[in-house]
Amino acid sequence: MKKLLGPTDRLYPMPSPLVLGGTMAEHDALAVAWIGIGAGTPPSVAMALRRTRRTLELIREHREFTVNIPRADDAAVVDYFGIVSGRKTDKFADTGWTAQPGSVVSAPIIAECPYNMECRVTHEIEIGEYVLVVGECVESHAEESILDDTGEKVDVMRLDPLVYIPGSREYRRLGEKVADAFAVGRTIESKE
Ligand SMILES: Cc1cc2nc3c(=O)[nH]c(=O)nc-3n(C[C@H](O)[C@H](O)[C@H](O)COP(=O)(O)O)c2cc1C
Repeated sequence: MKKLLGPTDRLYPMPSPLVLGGTMAEHDALAVAWIGIGAGTPPSVAMALRRTRRTLELIREHREFTVNIPRADDAAVVDYFGIVSGRKTDKFADTGWTAQPGSVVSAPIIAECPYNMECRVTHEIEIGEYVLVVGECVESHAEESILDDTGEKVDVMRLDPLVYIPGSREYRRLGEKVADAFAVGRTIESKE
């Protein structure tokens, strides 16, 4: 038996990156769970930001943002960026985290986050209290320590990203590998 839970905004699990808007001179960042890949070609990020967010104002002003993936051990800092507004305080000064110049856009990346994506805004769609912001990813950065042995791809266990669970409102880290994607499905024999 399944129980009806009604319309929901809960997907399991969710990422919990910090999204930064602004410039080196003036910037703000917030925690964003409602974020994902909107397209592959061109590579695009889509995220839902409530209209009241200070970071959204900066993104709309400069038309750029960065997505910064934090480590699981940094849950307290990420949560702080998600419960305090940059309208009231300088979250970077409070946490000691640092914005550093990216390579392509003027929005900085966050030094303490080992994986970063630089994006330029391509679309905005207003949905109720939210703005769905889509940005094309024009560059990405990875700390060498999170790359696999080939040095070409991110090893997700070395990245150890923070994961957010809605409903229970908790942070978690990833568990063990269960199978190879685009491959394990071939173990099922066609009935045709
Ligand atoms: C785990 C977590 C996930 C969040 N996800 C979102 C989100 O997807 N969209 C959003 O608008 N706010 C989200 N928030 C709330 C903002 O991060 C929060 O309101 C923040 O203080 C806004 O900061 P700002 O006003 O400095 O931009 C989330 C908060 C937490 C703790």
